[in-house]
Amino acid sequence: MINIKTQVGIIGAGPSGMVLANWLKKHDIDAVVIELRSREYVEGRVRAGLVEQNTKDILKELGLDARMKKEGIVHDGVYLSFDEERVHIPFGELTGGRTITIYGQQEITKDLTDAWLQEGGELHFETMATKIVDFDTKRPKIHFEKDDEEGILECDFVAACDGFHGIGRKTLPKKSFHSYDITYPFSWLGILANVAPSTDELIYAYHENGFALHSLRSETVSRLYVQVDNDESVDNWSDDRIWSELSQRLAAPGFDLEKGPIFEKSITPMRSHMIDSLRSGRLLLAGDAAHIVPPTGGKGMNLAIADVKHMVDAFVAYYKTNSEKLLDTYTNDALRRIWRAQDFSNFMTKLFHKQDAHGSFTYRLQKAKVDYLKVSKAYRTTIAENYVGLPFESFKN
Ligand code: APR
Ligand code: PHB
Repeated sequence: MINIKTQVGIIGAGPSGMVLANWLKKHDIDAVVIELRSREYVEGRVRAGLVEQNTKDILKELGLDARMKKEGIVHDGVYLSFDEERVHIPFGELTGGRTITIYGQQEITKDLTDAWLQEGGELHFETMATKIVDFDTKRPKIHFEKDDEEGILECDFVAACDGFHGIGRKTLPKKSFHSYDITYPFSWLGILANVAPSTDELIYAYHENGFALHSLRSETVSRLYVQVDNDESVDNWSDDRIWSELSQRLAAPGFDLEKGPIFEKSITPMRSHMIDSLRSGRLLLAGDAAHIVPPTGGKGMNLAIADVKHMVDAFVAYYKTNSEKLLDTYTNDALRRIWRAQDFSNFMTKLFHKQDAHGSFTYRLQKAKVDYLKVSKAYRTTIAENYVGLPFESFKN
């Protein structure tokens, strides 16, 4: 039996778990991380890559933004395209200089893991948390399995940063929260291709064939997505078919889509999921463990890291001033931003996906919104400020 003791026991070495571990270290609060998967698996997992202003500020404050500053690509705007007509939303101009950066989520995870391990942080890969107990006492315990051996991680608090399929949410007492779900009737087929991006800024496009998104990873790697049916398989999507759909859906006067070899193809379902309590006693949830947003707008990782900011504030107040006030307000402090992001992600999803017949009432409402965008600076500002992420101060009472 392995026995470990720490102050904050963290389950999950994704962005939320690793930001939390590094941030606590800055405040001299001990943490131990356990992660089900191998380091290679976690660092190789292809996810979104949109880093909003708050996340950039946090990584900078933690001194963990050196590689992102070097390799990430700053974007000062985005193109929103509808029936081959594009509207440009300039972020800096509409939000007082806030921007986003494109830098793969797995690169952030890599940087955070490297920093944690270099500083001597304890992180157990290929270790499965099996049970969380005693979180209604001052000494909760995480039971785990590592290399066929059982262990107990004893701590003051459990931070469940263990994603949608983790045990954190399942452990919350059933009666302590409500959950909310939307399953969308479409998915995204995402590709990575060895080809220079055909655009200087991301393009979100509605087309009668369905949604498409042109994103990128570097000067030589493009990341693109097309809307597909939920029962689609990547086997039905040859490279030629993908490029042909992308070319049609992203079309605009004077725009040519460069094609290149595709080296990653996968399908992601789209859902919104929420629970309205992120804490029970000394068990606190952050990130995908507590909420899922559809990827239109790229909020997933940013929300996860925003939850962690509130969690760190709560732990610092507890350890430095013996106050439980921020632990008590953790759920509400985090939920305000989460609901805002849920609304924005749902709005962007419904605005740009084909939902029913082209030309239907729903289509006309989508088009009316984009037409309004063209004439209203207020509406463009609404999109811009949500896209780059509202500052933390906006959500203070
Ligand atoms: N024991 C240990 N680790 C676990 C367990 C368990 N029982 N269950 C899950 N995990 C690990 C997973 O292997 C994963 O590495 O928890 C980690 C959770 O990481 P993420 O899924 O990346 O979640 P989070 O850190 O909240 O980041 C949210 O990830 O899914 C994207 O779009 C999402 O960008 C968002 C971000
Ligand atoms: C990505 O680059 O993977 C990305 C960008 C924006 C999104 C979703 C994904 O809205």
